[in-house]
Amino acid sequence: MNPMLNIAIRAVRKAGNIVAKGFERRDDIQTNQKSTNDYVTNIDKAAEAAIIEIIRKSYPEHTIIAEESGASEGKESDIQWVIDPLDGTTNFVKGLPHFSISIAVRVKGRTEIAVVYDPIRNELFTAVRGEGAKLNEYRLRIDNSSELTGAILATGFPFKIKRYVPIHLNMVSALIEDCADFRRTGSAALDLCYVAAGRVDAYFEMGVKAWDCAAGDLIVREAGGLVTDFVGGHSYLTKGNIVAGSARITKQILAKLQPCLTDEIKN
Ligand code: IPD
Ligand code: CA
Ligand code: CA
Repeated sequence: MNPMLNIAIRAVRKAGNIVAKGFERRDDIQTNQKSTNDYVTNIDKAAEAAIIEIIRKSYPEHTIIAEESGASEGKESDIQWVIDPLDGTTNFVKGLPHFSISIAVRVKGRTEIAVVYDPIRNELFTAVRGEGAKLNEYRLRIDNSSELTGAILATGFPFKIKRYVPIHLNMVSALIEDCADFRRTGSAALDLCYVAAGRVDAYFEMGVKAWDCAAGDLIVREAGGLVTDFVGGHSYLTKGNIVAGSARITKQILAKLQPCLTDEIKN
């Protein structure tokens, strides 16, 4: 097995244990507000520290970009570990059992390794660039025949960037003309994995961060899907506007979104 994949899996499983145990001992969860509607708990921090410790033991020179502790530049700035120690903190705090740990390894700006772990269902999503995507030991392959008509779409409301809400609601209105229904699960990393697994037909969201979507992005693409920003480009890891699905459905969604876009989002 690819050695970096091996370490990433070890790290998400360790963090997964911390998160699952923390979820059971709800009285011990300490929650702090980072900004409006944005929370961090002692468990996010403990999971992140455990992940960083495991990576640092094997790769002391690599760069680490982690949601809660920020960037720590290593001598090897070409190799970056992008970490979300708990994606779905709001679910975690509310006692809703749907969240994940996400790690992507990017080499010279290209994602090579992706791991997303759901500790409640013990589901491990992995991908290595050029080698496909898996859920546990099963290969994932996106069905390219699915259409926007009748589709189930995952999304996230832009609750941290309220000025995007009217634009997002316009998108939902435009898409519901054709799709069957929406899901708002609360973990962007799992939304992308669920696209790869065919559990939802596509996913779109505004204002996500690289740690939310870098791993899920590779998992979708290695399952044969297409991931783009809202104008069919590749800016989603930096600008945070993302669409993912089969090539066919992603293009149909993009066509529906165009009339909703403002200049800020197009450029
Ligand atoms: C959030 C979740 C959520 C998405 C937000 C993310 P967090 O991550 O992925 O589904 O809608 O945009 O920030 O804060 O729970 O790590
Ligand atoms: Ca996140
Ligand atoms: Ca998080």
